[in-house]
Amino acid sequence: MATILALETSCDETAVAIVKNRKVLSNIVASQIAIHQPYGGVVPEIASRHHLEAINHCIDRALNVAKIDWSDIDGIGATCAPGLVGALLVGATAAKTLAMVRNKPFLGIHHLEGHIYASYLCKPQLQPPFLCLLVSGGHTSLIHVKAHGQYKTLGKTRDDAVGEAYDKVARLLNLGYPGGPAIDKLAQTGNSQAFPLPEGKISLPEGGYHPYDFSFSGLKTAVQRLVRKLEQKTAPLPIADIAASFQETVAKSLTRKTITCALDHNLNTITLGGGVAANSRLRTLLQNSTEKNHLRLCFPSLEFCTDNAAMIACAAVEHLNRGYNSPLNMEVQSRLNI
Ligand code: KG4
Ligand code: ZN
Repeated sequence: MATILALETSCDETAVAIVKNRKVLSNIVASQIAIHQPYGGVVPEIASRHHLEAINHCIDRALNVAKIDWSDIDGIGATCAPGLVGALLVGATAAKTLAMVRNKPFLGIHHLEGHIYASYLCKPQLQPPFLCLLVSGGHTSLIHVKAHGQYKTLGKTRDDAVGEAYDKVARLLNLGYPGGPAIDKLAQTGNSQAFPLPEGKISLPEGGYHPYDFSFSGLKTAVQRLVRKLEQKTAPLPIADIAASFQETVAKSLTRKTITCALDHNLNTITLGGGVAANSRLRTLLQNSTEKNHLRLCFPSLEFCTDNAAMIACAAVEHLNRGYNSPLNMEVQSRLNI
């Protein structure tokens, strides 16, 4: 039994949570979306400054909501990689300082490990092995979770991450930032069969296609060409149909490769993680396909798909239970494989 307070500041959410084993006692997220919206994306320096301004308040709120004090906390976790270095530094430095001052173990956590652990918050009895489809603004990977802390990447994107593709297509359609939720909402009012779009495929030197790797930059370019062509007509741009056609192509590609990968590796449980795991069409298609193939599907509730500190705390609980404390001189890193 361990209670962890964790900080997550890898991008544009200042997040602090307290988790007891796999039970969330508090989950505070101070979003910077409105601050970065006028720029159409996250501005790293602005993100760091706002983390600094928000972090102490978020820590106090997390303790208040959980109704516990420092004596109940067994360790302090923080995301140390990957992410924006200045942003990561704020959370990691705050966590190390708290660990020193309060005399608690420090646990540096990989952001993607956090996204994998988000599924445990909704299904505490979940056990490896399983296949995790990790889809976020920076990553698109199929990860074989062999055991706690043992990961093998079986597939990944060769170009854009899927969340990045969502954000870029949203910009083309003037839907603002972040694009994923806006496209998801609009797509529900559109015709997904209106515009056939190409699914990205990775050719293999020996012929055929890579079964589990993804590509989204060609799809994004195809949407760009379609928008240019339609703009030459006088009718208003059918943005709902374009959004629905794009979303259908993405969700089908992710679902097909995930199911193939799970079946090929005899993994009968699939989990989802990352911001794009909140996507309604992806959740529906995966649900239908897993049922058809007699596989189990486990996805986090929406609040634990996008960046949050509860998933980091949940991973930190596992580290602490296994006796893996991190040194206080652990560095933050912008890139790091899981
Ligand atoms: O995991 P996350 O919060 O941050 C990263 O680690 O990158 O993921 C953010 C990404 C953004 O690209 C956002 O547009 C996308 O997740 N996203 C969605 C949805 N909600 C967030 N994409 C598709 N559909 C959604 N409902
Ligand atoms: Zn993330």
